[in-house]
Amino acid sequence: MILPNLKEAKKRTKDPVLTKQFNISNDLVLIGQGKSYYIKTYGCQMNERDSEDIKGILEHIGFKEVFDYEQADLVLLNTCSIRENANDKAFGMLGRLKHLKQQKKDLIVGLCGCMAQEEIVINQILTKYKWLNFVFGTHNIINLPYLINQNMIFNKLMIEVPSIEGNIIEGIPSKRLFNHKAFVNIIYGCDKFCTYCIVPYTRGKQRSRTKEDIIKEIKALKKLGYQEVTLLGQNVNAYGKDLYNNYNLANLLEEVSKLGIARIRFVTSHPWDFTDEMIDVIAKYDNIMPAIHLPIQSGSNRILKLMGRRYTKEDYITLFNKIKKKIARVSISTDIIVGFPTETESDFNETIDLVNTCHFDNAFTFIYSKRVGTVAFKMEDNIQEKVKEQRLQLLNKTVNKYFLQNNLKYENQIVEILVDGIDLKTKQLYGYTDTNKLVYFPGTENLIGHIIKVKITKPKTWSLEGIIQSEN
Ligand code: SAH
Ligand code: SF4
Ligand code: F3S
Repeated sequence: MILPNLKEAKKRTKDPVLTKQFNISNDLVLIGQGKSYYIKTYGCQMNERDSEDIKGILEHIGFKEVFDYEQADLVLLNTCSIRENANDKAFGMLGRLKHLKQQKKDLIVGLCGCMAQEEIVINQILTKYKWLNFVFGTHNIINLPYLINQNMIFNKLMIEVPSIEGNIIEGIPSKRLFNHKAFVNIIYGCDKFCTYCIVPYTRGKQRSRTKEDIIKEIKALKKLGYQEVTLLGQNVNAYGKDLYNNYNLANLLEEVSKLGIARIRFVTSHPWDFTDEMIDVIAKYDNIMPAIHLPIQSGSNRILKLMGRRYTKEDYITLFNKIKKKIARVSISTDIIVGFPTETESDFNETIDLVNTCHFDNAFTFIYSKRVGTVAFKMEDNIQEKVKEQRLQLLNKTVNKYFLQNNLKYENQIVEILVDGIDLKTKQLYGYTDTNKLVYFPGTENLIGHIIKVKITKPKTWSLEGIIQSEN
């Protein structure tokens, strides 16, 4: 057993990051033959991307994917621990799986992802979920074949969750979610330690992939016909800082842009690291999408300070205005937390004021959730649940107003959409504009993966409706 340790997870040394190549010993290559797997992914794009690697590894050793967990020989939960309700969802699923395992004795159930990195979760597993087969963390995905094999032999709970600063593994055989758009990790981990956030503990130290590895991956995707790449990291703006003296996200974006892939996106940007050079590059290249996710978290300087965000409301607004001025048609979205410890009515009103100043195109809004091990955990969570909910409601009402206001500007415009798929309910095609607006329109499946022109007929709060103008 290797158990996670929050104290170790907090450590940040100057030790160099090890880059290893994926390889698998020959005796493990066939262990999944004739067997099936189901994987459920919770949380952010980082987890989605990891699940693509996990699927790739499982298929490499012979497993086949199924989409009904009751039919699978192996069920994996790739979990998220950003807020308490994310943990609750995974525990709920474990309840259902326990039931299934009572009927299907050979079923293998594994848990991985950010929850696995939490000491408190592992303690719960060791007492209440001993029937699980194995748990692994965010740093040792490539041990999965070994864990499955050991489990087939010994059939008892194995926990292997190292709390390390983390390494980088190249060459994992991925099974991508889409054939036309892909996530590309550029930086792992996070060193920001915002006081409310569990991510620096679950994902380790901030570590950039080499530009050569990133470019190689994107070139290969382009060759396969991919139209869009999203450069991924908890804070992509910090790209290169740990690796190069003189190469940053602006340089990487420029280099990727010149590869000629149709659409380039990047998430997430911490306002603190946003440079003028980056804004200029985004403005200059047409294939870098004018859509920026720029989490503000709160509009009160007192709360921002307590959150450890390292910028003021004024800094944010200055950056916001600069981006709006320099990048034509840019859309800006954000994340906001209400009910952070000690947040007063007046702090909250400052958040509302900020929304009324910035008119965000989209916003993800959350009630603060206490996470064990973080700095804010020790602050008194002194705001009543009812008050937090009222604040969230008012905030949502305010942000929604601007979503609609911004979307109304699209009426009768002709926009380019990369078609993602068909909506099962409405049977309409859907996809996103360059500015990341979701658009639904009638059309046929052969258009999936293509960039087409659509005329917007009906803007709504969370999406737009349109009709195809031309198929190229
Ligand atoms: N790296 C990104 C955020 C990743 S987490 C950034 O810094 O911008 C996504 C969002 O979840 C955060 O922006 C924040 O709004 C929210 N979040 C993180 N921890 C939270 C917590 N403990 N309670 C409530 N919301 C939280
Ligand atoms: Fe969490 Fe802050 Fe890092 Fe984002 S930047 S992942 S909110 S610690
Ligand atoms: Fe959740 Fe981990 Fe992402 S906590 S939000 S899955 S980095």
